[in-house]
Amino acid sequence: MQLSVKHLLGIRDLSRQDIQIILDTATQFKEVLQRPIKKVPSLRDVTIVNLFFENSTRTRISFELAEKRLSADSINFTASASSVSKGETLLDTVNNILSMKVDMVVMRHSASGAPHFLAKHIPAAIVNAGDGINEHPTQGLLDAFSMREKLGRLEGLKVAIIGDIMHSRVAMSNIYLLKKMGAEVMVAGPPTLIPKYIQEAFDIRVEYNLKKALQWCDVANVLRIQLERQNQVLFSSLREYSLAYGINKQILDSLDKKIVIMHPGPINRGVELDSDAADSAQSIILNQVENGVAVRMAVLYLLSGGREMTN
Ligand code: CP
Repeated sequence: MQLSVKHLLGIRDLSRQDIQIILDTATQFKEVLQRPIKKVPSLRDVTIVNLFFENSTRTRISFELAEKRLSADSINFTASASSVSKGETLLDTVNNILSMKVDMVVMRHSASGAPHFLAKHIPAAIVNAGDGINEHPTQGLLDAFSMREKLGRLEGLKVAIIGDIMHSRVAMSNIYLLKKMGAEVMVAGPPTLIPKYIQEAFDIRVEYNLKKALQWCDVANVLRIQLERQNQVLFSSLREYSLAYGINKQILDSLDKKIVIMHPGPINRGVELDSDAADSAQSIILNQVENGVAVRMAVLYLLSGGREMTN
């Protein structure tokens, strides 16, 4: 089975079957990553450029590692150290890189829609590594992979996405994916950080009370406050946000069940998540990071024309 798309621009464009193929292929790559020799020749002679116009720790390292494990040739580009700082346009930058015979582009950009723009203008396959407040599709996929690995299913799972929904590309990719896969989705946080249209547009629940959200869900995917994307004051202070919406061990222990705690990172410890919750046995935050490599291997392999592997 092959993907129905040429690029991974967003989960919005994927079918349920595409998601299933990616998650199942990632399961096989995860098995490869447990072996003493973790490298496979699947992308030998494929050249990938990682274009990061915005900061990243996890996504960037994870893509680079995935490319190395697949034996691809990869090139890393950091906007701050490039001719972009001299005024070169995105299209000129990419066309210059492509003239050096690049097959795939992994791109993170602060502008929503930047990878969609590139996909219209260049022949290489594009993987969106996060565009503005739009989508972060590989984060959505690795989150789903981690939930499925931990709890055995996505269908019927109750997932609460908690925090700054308004500015979160992770929230958007999770909502698209979880709804396509039959999960029940709730967004929770202060009213000023939850878009008014979201409940009706996506047929999801909205909750402003943290304890009620945690009591309802099987999984809490906790998000960072994206201060860098807020151009107006949307809550009184980080301290007050933390008092109303911060998750700690005390609130987790007050629930009548053990829920799973996730976070895409970077965590602002003491704001949305205290260390006693982030580092607890209920947290799968580092499993998410580990799974990111296998998921990105699957995406790169499938977009380069690879077929779903059969056992
Ligand atoms: N989750 C995530 O996108 O983290 P980075 O910004 O460090 O890549």
